[in-house]
Amino acid sequence: MTPSDEARRTLTVSLGERSYPIHIGSGLLGDPQWLRPHLAGRQVMIVTNETVSPLYLERLKAGLGDDLVVREVVLPDGEATKTLASVERIWDALLEAGFNRRCTLVALGGGVIGDMAGFAAACYQRGVAFVQVPTTLLSQVDSSVGGKTGVNHPRGKNMIGAFWQPRAVLIDTDTLATLPRRELSAGLAEVIKYGLIRDADFLAWLEASMTALRSLDGEALAGAIERSCSLKAEVVAEDETEQGVRALLNLGHTFGHAIETHQGYGRWLHGEAVGAGMLMAAELSQRLGWLSEAEVGRVREVLAAAGLPLAAPADMGVDDFLAIMRLDKKNLDERLRLILLRRLGDACIHDETPRETLAALLQAFPRQ
Ligand code: NAD
Ligand code: GLY
Repeated sequence: MTPSDEARRTLTVSLGERSYPIHIGSGLLGDPQWLRPHLAGRQVMIVTNETVSPLYLERLKAGLGDDLVVREVVLPDGEATKTLASVERIWDALLEAGFNRRCTLVALGGGVIGDMAGFAAACYQRGVAFVQVPTTLLSQVDSSVGGKTGVNHPRGKNMIGAFWQPRAVLIDTDTLATLPRRELSAGLAEVIKYGLIRDADFLAWLEASMTALRSLDGEALAGAIERSCSLKAEVVAEDETEQGVRALLNLGHTFGHAIETHQGYGRWLHGEAVGAGMLMAAELSQRLGWLSEAEVGRVREVLAAAGLPLAAPADMGVDDFLAIMRLDKKNLDERLRLILLRRLGDACIHDETPRETLAALLQAFPRQ
């Protein structure tokens, strides 16, 4: 059955002349009307990986038509490959193909591919067009929207990068059918994040809908993706380069990035680390007198219902956390900046957490 256009939704990220649409729906991949209008010219480089390519590359190409010059670069899979060396492979492929400034990069995959393809586009010939075609829940609700691109450094997550907005985001919800369950849970962490920082009603809806979401109920998933993207689009339109409110999207990330960096990229999924990190942020907010025990209990339960870890790695001590957190991009001069919760649905930027309160939280937080 061909899905009707009514079953599809379009949101806009409003950034003046760099505004772009987020199309959400079933069956977008193979349908030329969604991708073709956003191509800068006739040259198209699809960037994907060895897992996603056998699943969706041909479908995407079928939706491009045969009057274009289409090339592809298929990278190895995994967070550990989110490096400058992988981005160089994309630049090599572009140069080998002789692509010029009117080429378009199309990122087909999860957040790792999207972040690298976007960074490659930001730098190639000082900036070319790119389109995000995210295929994981996490990338559909978060990383494909907002223009943060880049790679990891052994000393810190996403430390090398650029703000570079895509021309469009095409979210084909059919791609979630092949996503491993652990990856689905990781994506749910970022969905829960929006409820916690900005929308208490959405949080309550998520608590009630978690079983449906984890059973891949199409309507529930489309609703969660649309609300998440809409909240993210609002924040990005207000603060594209994270001078203020956009920092709230990093709830749980300072703790989570420390876990990912300490464990070695890929051992913990990004969403898993953010899930545990959000519980740490909630417990710290309780220690500061802002959240009640019952509210922290709700955070713990919704994360558990999503299948996310509620404990930090066994081999991470307080000093391990503090050493990596000191390098966080949000920090100002010597001060550690954390995103915490004043209430459920209301996050704040906090620069004044007493070191002993943070250390006590890190000491008491459960280990696996
Ligand atoms: P990922 O890109 O590693 O994808 C997860 C796994 O799913 C990979 O093995 C991938 O090959 C596989 N996969 C992708 N689509 C699939 C499908 N439809 N069916 C089966 N398998 C599929 O991880 P992710 O969770 O999508 O993204 C995490 C990355 O995103 C991290 O590097 C994180 O730092 C970054 N991120 C960036 C932003 C941003 O604003 N740019 C925001 C959040 C996260
Ligand atoms: N994922 C955080 C941001 O886009 O700002």
